[in-house]
Amino acid sequence: MRIVLLGAPGAGKGTQAQKLVEDYGVAHISTGDLLRAAVKAQSALGVQAKGYMDAGKLVPDELVIGLVTERLQQDDAQRGFVLDGFPRNTDQADALDVELAKLDMGLDAALLVDVRPEVIVNRLSSRRTCHDCGYTATEGVTACPRCGGKMYQRDDDRPETIARRLETYKNQTAPLIEYYRGHGILKEVDGDRPVGEVYADVTSSLGL
Ligand code: AP5
Repeated sequence: MRIVLLGAPGAGKGTQAQKLVEDYGVAHISTGDLLRAAVKAQSALGVQAKGYMDAGKLVPDELVIGLVTERLQQDDAQRGFVLDGFPRNTDQADALDVELAKLDMGLDAALLVDVRPEVIVNRLSSRRTCHDCGYTATEGVTACPRCGGKMYQRDDDRPETIARRLETYKNQTAPLIEYYRGHGILKEVDGDRPVGEVYADVTSSLGL
C-alpha cells in the first residue's frame, strides 16, 4: 500500500492513518509529526519551521521535501506507506513523483477525506495530541491511550491559527484534488461520520 491522504486540517487524515498503520503495518509518514519533532528537538530545521507553523503557513518546500525524501528511504517504508500531510502543493507533488520514480515505486491512490469547514473548527479546537508519540484524541483525554504520554493542545489548534490554516489549505493544497484526479488515482470518502464508518469506507475504497 502506497497512498497519499488528502484533506483539510482536522479532516481526520492522522486518525485514519493511525488505523491503517495498526492494521496493515505500513509506515506512517506525517510531515506535521516530523516537523513538530524537529521543533521539539530545536534542530536547525525545527527553528526555521516553527514560525511558519505557528502562523498557519506552509513550511518552505526545500525543507519539507528533503525530510520526506530521507524518510521514504528508510526500511519500514519499503513495505508500504501512508503519506499524511504531504504533498501540500503541486510542486511537492511533482517532487514526490520524481523521488518515487527513483525508488522504482508508484502511488496506488490519493485518498481525499472530505469534511465541511464548520465541522473542522470544532474538531481542531477540541483536539488533544500526545506530547511523546503524536497520537490524537479529543478534549478530556489526559493520558495517551497508546503510550501513556501527556496530552496537550497544539499551538496551531487555536481559533485564529485554524482560520489561517484553512485559508492555506484552500489556496495551496485543495488544487491537489484535481492534480490526482488527472492522474487517475483520486478516491474520496465522506469524513463527516463516526471514525469507524469513515474507516470502513477508506478500506473499501482502497480495495483492502
Ligand atoms: P499537520 O500536522 O499536517 O496538520 P494538518 O494537515 O493541518 O492536519 P491535522 O493534523 O490538523 O489534521 P488531521 O486531518 O490529521 O486530523 P486528525 O486525524 O488529527 O501540519 C501542521 C503544520 O505543519 C502545517 O500548518 C504546516 O505549517 C506544516 N506542514 C506540515 N506538512 C507540511 C508540508 N507538506 N509542507 C509544508 N508545511 C507543512 O483529527 C482532528 C481531530 O478530530 C482529532 O481530535 C480527532 O480525534 C478528531 N476526529 C478525527 N476523525 C473524526 C471523526 N470521523 N469524527 C469525529 N472526530 C474525528
